Formats: sequence, structure tokens, C-alpha cells
Amino acid sequence: MNLSSSPPASRIIGTGSSLPEGRVTNQELVARLAQLGVETSDEWIVERTGIRARHFAPDHLYTSDLALDSARQALEAAGCQAAELDLIIVATSTPDMVFPSTACILQRKLGNRGAAAFDVQAVCSGFVYGLSIADAMIRAGSVRKALVVGAEIFSRLLDFTDRTTCVLFGDGAGAVVLEASDRPGILTTQLHADGQHSEILCTPGTVSGGKIIGDPLLRMDGQAVFKLAVGVLEDVAREVLVKAQRTEADIDWLVPHQANIRIIQSTAKKLKLGMEKVILTLAEHGNTSAASIPLALDAGVRSGRIKPGDTVLLEGVGGGFTWGAVLFDL
Ligand code: UT7
Repeated sequence: MNLSSSPPASRIIGTGSSLPEGRVTNQELVARLAQLGVETSDEWIVERTGIRARHFAPDHLYTSDLALDSARQALEAAGCQAAELDLIIVATSTPDMVFPSTACILQRKLGNRGAAAFDVQAVCSGFVYGLSIADAMIRAGSVRKALVVGAEIFSRLLDFTDRTTCVLFGDGAGAVVLEASDRPGILTTQLHADGQHSEILCTPGTVSGGKIIGDPLLRMDGQAVFKLAVGVLEDVAREVLVKAQRTEADIDWLVPHQANIRIIQSTAKKLKLGMEKVILTLAEHGNTSAASIPLALDAGVRSGRIKPGDTVLLEGVGGGFTWGAVLFDL
């Protein structure tokens, strides 16, 4: 790609999202788990997490299918053809296959040829990582239009005999189209990781010699993740605000990773934001990992709450341990 003049910034020009049809309420999940001898309750799940339902994809659906649905919506909202994209990033920890990347499979399904396409593996922070990379590539002048998708089928990693994790997660996808622009949309981004904490949230198994080696299911020390998340989310929010020379008062909307209502409330309180300024999809979607932020962003935009000109803070945290934030004007 050889662009004559490098525009200074990137803007989000369209959003989209997708949920598989299989909605499972807490009550339904509690009944299914009881058949496995696993004891939990709607009361516990709602009180400790804020989750009331989640969507589980049927066996025939792949992560790239959900990604495709959300991408088509985002492209339509952007008034953009798939052929115009010169970058496709998919953030996922549940790819269709070991390789090629889900981004390349999505590219085929979209009918795009020639765009750079790759996956980002940063678990629940993946979308923020992907958006940040796309923004940097647009600023560098090598990309003019980018598609960034967060897509997951986390239900396939769940151990349905482990009540501490299987009630938390769901499946879905969300997408944005970014375009090079003279008018800044994305103001600042900040990414972090600390691999010292890789064991508190992981799916440690791998494929070797035609066999699954190790444990292929999601494992989490919930309390350890909770404590780290609350601290780093406040810190990274302040980092992007300082870099953008803005304050908490400038934030119109907080679109956080949807993992636990108590983590979200704590972050909002520390940033002196009323909960009416927070986009919440947790109750209906559960934790959809890399898909949760773009799903919530699309819900905020399509419901008319997030409007052109609004300042939005996206924040993600997850396995790795990874975390990051993006501050943008829509
Ligand atoms: O997406 C990446 C980021 N992920 C997160 O941010 C998740 C962060 N962690 C959390 O959201 C919370 O730690 C959890 C929701 C996972 C757990 O909530 P908690 O308040 O930290 O519960 P806990 O682990 O301290 O467990 C409290 C009790 C325990 O029983 P005892 O030992 O007090 O008798 C658990 O065995 O709750 C029990 N428990 C359950 N009871 C009913 C744990 N899971 C369940 C359950 N149903 N599903």
C-alpha cells in the first residue's frame, strides 16, 4: 500500500454485532447444571455477577460466522464495501481452527482479497488491542480502511461441571470499521500486559501429535482476576485521559469489558461516572471475552445513546494478564 499523504488520525465510521440464537437464561442454565449434579442458583449468579442470560452457539456455527454477521452490519453502517478494506483484524481466543487465522477465513467469507488479515490473541482485552493496532497502522499511513472484530464462542471452552466459571461466559461478536481521517476520532490508546499472572485465567491445553495435550478447558482464579482488574482498569483509564489532555468530566460514555457488574460499578465510581453513563450488556450477554466491548459499543450506538461527537472510553481486561483502553470521539 502506498498512500500519497498520510492522514493524521482514524475514526470509527460504523459498528455492528451478532449474537447466536440460543439464548440461555440463568434459570435454564441452573436446570441443565442440576442434571450434571452442579449446584448453583439464579440468585447467586445475579448477585455476584449481574448476569441474567447468555447466548450459546449451536455446534454448526463457527467464530468466523458470528464475525461475518457483525462485520456485514458494521460495513453497512459505514457505507463501505468489503473490497475497500485494506486491514482485517479479528480478536479471538476461540478461533475456527489452529490456522489459518479467523481473520483470513472472515476475509474469504466477506469476499475481500488483498487486505492484510490476522488474529489478535489478548483474550478479553483483544478488541482493545486490535483497535489500537488498527489505529496505529492508519496513523502510520499504511492502511486507509480497517475492520476490527471481537468474536468468540467461549461456550466451547467451558467446563460445565465447574460452577465458578461456566455461569459467567457466553458467545457473540462485535465489529467496527475504521477510516483514515483528518478529524481525530481515536484520541489515545494504551495497552499493557503482565505475563507473571498468566496462570490465573487460562486454557492451558494444546494440540500436539494429533492429540489434545493438557487441560483444554477454561480455568480461572476469579478472586485474583477480580482484584487485579479493579486496580488496572482505573490506572489505564487515567493514562489515556492524561495522554489526551482530557478529564473524567469529558467522558460521555464508558463502554467497559462486561465481566462482572461489581467491577464495572467500582471502575465507574473511581472515575466519578454515574452508572447512567455506562453501557451495560452484561445482564443479557454474560462475559463474551473479546466480543464484549464491541457488542456493548454497538448496543450503545444503535440504541441512540452514543451519538456523533460523544467522547467514549473503552476498557478491557483479561487473560494474559492483559489490559488496555481506547479513548475516542465518535
Ligand atoms: O473476562 C476476564 C475477566 N474476568 C473477570 O473479571 C472475572 C473476575 N472475577 C469475578 O467476577 C468473581 O470473582 C466471580 C464472579 C468469578 C466469583 O465471585 P466471588 O464473589 O469472587 O465469589 P468467590 O469465588 O469468592 O466464591 C464465593 C462462594 C464460594 O463458596 P464458599 O467457599 O464461600 O462456600 C464459592 O464456592 O460462592 C461459591 N460459588 C458459587 N455458588 C453458587 C462460586 N460459584 C458459584 C456458583 N453458584 N456459580
